Amino acid sequence: MSDCTSHTSEANASIGRMSRPEAFTQNIDVSTLVDSDGGLIDRSIYTETSIYAQEQRRIFARSWLFLAHTSQFKKPGDFFTTFMGEDPIIVTMDKTKTIRAYLNSCRHRGVRLCRADAGATKMFTCTYHGWSFDLAGALQSVPNEKAYPEDFDRKQWGLIEVPNVQSYKGLIFGNWDKDAQSLEENLGDMRYYMDAMLDRDPEGTEVMGGVMKWTLEGNWKLAAEQFATDWYHVNMSHASALMVLSPTGRGPKAEIAATPGRQFGSENGHGAGFPTHPKSRFDARPVHEYYDYEALRERLGDAAVEGPMTTGHATVFPNFSYLPVNGSIRVWHPKGPDKMEVWAWVLVDKSMPDEVKDAQRLYNLRTFGPSGIFEADDGENWSEIQAISHGFVTNNVPLNFQMGIGSERNDGTYPGQTSELYSDAAGRAFYRHWSKQMNTPAWHERTEQA
Ligand code: FES
Ligand SMILES: [Fe+2]
Repeated sequence: MSDCTSHTSEANASIGRMSRPEAFTQNIDVSTLVDSDGGLIDRSIYTETSIYAQEQRRIFARSWLFLAHTSQFKKPGDFFTTFMGEDPIIVTMDKTKTIRAYLNSCRHRGVRLCRADAGATKMFTCTYHGWSFDLAGALQSVPNEKAYPEDFDRKQWGLIEVPNVQSYKGLIFGNWDKDAQSLEENLGDMRYYMDAMLDRDPEGTEVMGGVMKWTLEGNWKLAAEQFATDWYHVNMSHASALMVLSPTGRGPKAEIAATPGRQFGSENGHGAGFPTHPKSRFDARPVHEYYDYEALRERLGDAAVEGPMTTGHATVFPNFSYLPVNGSIRVWHPKGPDKMEVWAWVLVDKSMPDEVKDAQRLYNLRTFGPSGIFEADDGENWSEIQAISHGFVTNNVPLNFQMGIGSERNDGTYPGQTSELYSDAAGRAFYRHWSKQMNTPAWHERTEQA
């Protein structure tokens, strides 16, 4: 989508221009905290401030992070503000209709440049002293500019630009590493599982309404990991919600616990799980009735329709997750080791008639909106884990990720390494990649000679 233009490259050159004491960036070797082969996780990775700070440097500053959906930008000047890790970001469409992303912090004294959630503008003007930046990130006007030294060069004070912005079927991602592996390469086999949500309609998808945002007391990984790997909790945690949705009003017993399905775990930390059923279907009746399942089988293949198209759950490493049957895409924004902010969009197929889109939206709200009957169950578990994790003894007791160890294989039907529906395989893959990234220097740590 965008490569830095020359003036933002000059601005970006100021990253790290002043050298900082080593103490600011002392890295911890996390290899003893994650045993992804043995399925053990040390609880400190959810609570330690130093680990959290290292994640900002070595996970969020170097991974592909979800920014926005292409349908949020229709004309030049449309913008949306978000975060990459804890870094505030403006995503906007420039005059050439290219989607670009900038650090949302004024280059003068660092105030948040754009305070609106979304909107349309010609310029981003800082409310502190009035520096103004155009849609290409260039610093266009500086009040009382004559008072600055002669060598003051506006080109060097443009917005810091996210150098790598790419999209996959409507989902826009950004990466601070200009030399990062491409988004598509990084997703690899995960694209097959994503296509079952993003590619049902030749017109693609769009988001409806705004972004729902809420805060949870829990480390961001608890949510990301669960969406990658955890079907196991469904029967227990969501028993009452499933009872409400069941036509018979009975709880999920043996027939659901015995559900067959698969779980995919990627070497890049992505994960997806789903029950398999020849009559897989959407729960919202108008959505189910809208779909021509035969046409979908032709478009996506039988295996995709009988598995990941409906009741799946998934995470794109590190913190973007989705639920196809609920039409939910979301980001788990880290807000300190003990807190996350959930930002959730309703995703629908573009060609759906309005009443079908609305049925999907309402089903989304009932199940996985901020007060959805399933969402509340999940948030409760994560905050219960976090609330007690700071106890010294508690923090020293490892967590168990051993379900399905050794079951990963290429099953000949679903791409990549897959395991059973009830398994921690994708969780182990998530933490294997997390630990590798945490122990590997990122772009900003490379020396000139390297
Ligand atoms: S902080 Fe933005 S103009 Fe001064
Ligand atoms: Fe859940």
